Amino acid sequence: MTLHIPPHRPATPGAQAFLDSGAKKLLIANEWTDAAGGGTFATHDPASGALLCEIAEGTPADADAAVSAARAALSDPAWRDMKPSARGRLLWAIADLIEAHADELAELETLDQGKSWATSRFAEIPASAEQFRYYAGFANKILGQTIPTSIGYHPPGKKVFAYTTREPVGVVAAITPWNSPLLMAAMKLAPALCAGCTVVLKPAEETSLTALRLGELLIEAGLPAGVVNIVTGFGAAVGAHLTAHRDVDKVAFTGSTEVGRMIVGAAQGNLKKLTLELGGKSPAIVMPDADFALALPGVARGIFANSGQVCVAGSRAYVHRSIHDAFVDGLVKEAAKLRLGHGLDRETDLGPLVSAAQAERVAAFIDEGKADGAGVATGGERVGDAGAFYTPTVVTGARPDMRMMREEIFGPVITVTPFDEPEEALAYANDTDYGLAASVWTENLSAAHRLAAGIRSGTVWINCHSYFSPELPKGGHKESGWGYENSAQGLENYLETKTVCAVI
Ligand code: NAI
Ligand code: MG
Repeated sequence: MTLHIPPHRPATPGAQAFLDSGAKKLLIANEWTDAAGGGTFATHDPASGALLCEIAEGTPADADAAVSAARAALSDPAWRDMKPSARGRLLWAIADLIEAHADELAELETLDQGKSWATSRFAEIPASAEQFRYYAGFANKILGQTIPTSIGYHPPGKKVFAYTTREPVGVVAAITPWNSPLLMAAMKLAPALCAGCTVVLKPAEETSLTALRLGELLIEAGLPAGVVNIVTGFGAAVGAHLTAHRDVDKVAFTGSTEVGRMIVGAAQGNLKKLTLELGGKSPAIVMPDADFALALPGVARGIFANSGQVCVAGSRAYVHRSIHDAFVDGLVKEAAKLRLGHGLDRETDLGPLVSAAQAERVAAFIDEGKADGAGVATGGERVGDAGAFYTPTVVTGARPDMRMMREEIFGPVITVTPFDEPEEALAYANDTDYGLAASVWTENLSAAHRLAAGIRSGTVWINCHSYFSPELPKGGHKESGWGYENSAQGLENYLETKTVCAVI
């Protein structure tokens, strides 16, 4: 299969102007500044390999400046004393601006990351706006409690009066990945700002553009200086420095489990609060009575959407033996329907992976599995001029000890394994160090809920996969992470509780 992708240009004047306006700078205290030393790095369109623009390569000194700005903003009356309803209106205004610039942001996201226009424009950019809307409504509903106590040793004639207040946790380092760049940033910024925190955002080096455009929109919305700072650059330089920084109170991270472990180590110095949204190896259990009309496209979308670069991607299908072969055939047909191409072409279903390096990483899993005896029912090919496309791939006969069955591939690759009894399916599903998500496909209500109860993961979908909403907590059990995003629980991560106990 050959695929020739010429360089593409965005159609919206805003996106083109953004790309043409020179090297992108860091945002520190609402000023756009060059990196200390003036270094830059390039960001590319992974579909064509074309250069998009240069970006300031932040250094530890820049991270220090951003943390100082965030620390100062925390006690700046413009932010600290902003009325809760005003903070809510600000979050709402950010959502409005994201929506007003949705075409432009979607084009930048697709060019930088590779994902299809439909995924950017109709799923992820609107979902980013929804994060700000959801938490806008919370800003004036953050409450403490008055608490009757049982303390009996107060002086005679006095009594104990106790209450709690909620306070922002402080300066947050938000470190985001490249798979859904703006959405991952929004999922951290919206609750952090709702809680009254200040933030240093470090976007993934592969995909910094929408975070930087959002920075411009945050200023336009009226966010006071220093409340959100953006330091672009590499994980080992900026990310590692922020996670070890003594003046950062909390790290909110989404990315690989490997880097998650490094952050746990780096955070020891001042015992930072951590939320970690890490990798997954999510199973899809297809029972013999599953409705194929739902399950086939649903399981296919669950792995192939965004070319499998989704933390919850359903990468291991366990299918009842009686329907296994028919299901594999059906998945192969679903894969064949997907048109590969440049994300900006409206007929494209699947764009490239984020980079040629990621496609190479995916290919290595498959090549190793094939050499070890796994079968490839379809796919397994790297295509495209820039080498970043990987064809949707269905693997059969993989063994549980193979690397492709144990590690997160982050590509459009699904393994299909037969089972005979539901208990066996459950044991397979739970045979992983990860515990992010799972789906169960059946028309049998009891079986569905029994399986949901038995799977060790943060989310279980029944007859669907990758259904998200800000109302629904999202987080990992086991080695898939610490803490939850979305919902009221997502806000808790950004709040401290202060107990005030008085004798009056
Ligand atoms: P990564 O975990 O290295 O990158 C995520 C973010 O962490 C980026 O902003 C990066 O600059 C930053 N980072 C890197 N090293 C750091 C350090 N020492 N301290 C602080 N921050 C650091 O992920 P990578 O290497 O880009 O992708 C490799 C694999 O990780 C993928 O194939 C996939 O399996 C997994 N991954 C999972 C994600 C998820 O949502 N669960 C997202 C991204 C990657
Ligand atoms: Mg890029």
